[in-house]
Amino acid sequence: MNTSPVKLFRQAKKSGEKVVMISLYDAPTAALAADAGADTILVGDSMGNVVLGYDGTVAVTMESMLHHTEAVSRGVRSSENPGIPIVSDLPFAAYATAGQAAENAARLMRAGANAVKLEGSGPLVVEAASVLTQLGVPVMGHLGYTPQSSNNFEGVVQGKTNEAASLILDGAKRLQEAGCFGVVLEVVPSEVAARVTGELSISTVGIGAGPDTDAQVLVWHDLVGLSPKKLRFARRYAEAHELLSGATRDFVREVKGGGFPGPENGWAMDPEELESWS
Ligand code: KIV
Repeated sequence: MNTSPVKLFRQAKKSGEKVVMISLYDAPTAALAADAGADTILVGDSMGNVVLGYDGTVAVTMESMLHHTEAVSRGVRSSENPGIPIVSDLPFAAYATAGQAAENAARLMRAGANAVKLEGSGPLVVEAASVLTQLGVPVMGHLGYTPQSSNNFEGVVQGKTNEAASLILDGAKRLQEAGCFGVVLEVVPSEVAARVTGELSISTVGIGAGPDTDAQVLVWHDLVGLSPKKLRFARRYAEAHELLSGATRDFVREVKGGGFPGPENGWAMDPEELESWS
């Protein structure tokens, strides 16, 4: 039985205990994160740039989201914490109408998601969020830097002026009103995230938004140092890129030099059989 994402975030808001969310895309990583004590997993459409080789999230399709949600769901179920909730991104233009949002959210839920996330707070998005929550789909919003609309942005940091900060605060309130159980705040000044967190009764989930949000989310590849690029808002808890490229270079060198495979990596025939065979 799954922990309800709504319950998880509501209790955390009440108790003040931080929720840890990790964005990732495959079964072994999902099991690893669940075993490490993550409270919830996001199957983020950041998969577009992080593992699919695109230069953003716009190219990510429903089919990709379904494929990876199923994989993550299998990984979580195989872990020591099989009940932690999975939130999946509704990808670019998958919620242009409330009908599309409902159909695509249902597909993600059937693939193993326990909630969906959508970006923005314009009238269409708020309507989609409202319809989904009325249908019983837990919805997380996403404001600040919203990669699906990155073509409209001049810079990455959002909410630096009074006016821009107020737009984020008002948008978050509209999403709360629409029934969302939480809202991601991406790359906004800490002061903005702190005020939004203080004024909302639902949880905020920060990424590049300072220490005061109710939850924190990072992409797993960033936190283990697998992404070649160092991001200011992420902390690298390992240098996996260096470690893994060293291991791969060792393998190449050993195969070329005859060091791999060794006797311990193979099998011999039964000696009598070998005699009659040769
Ligand atoms: O797609 C993603 O991984 C996200 C997080 C960065 C919040 O939306």
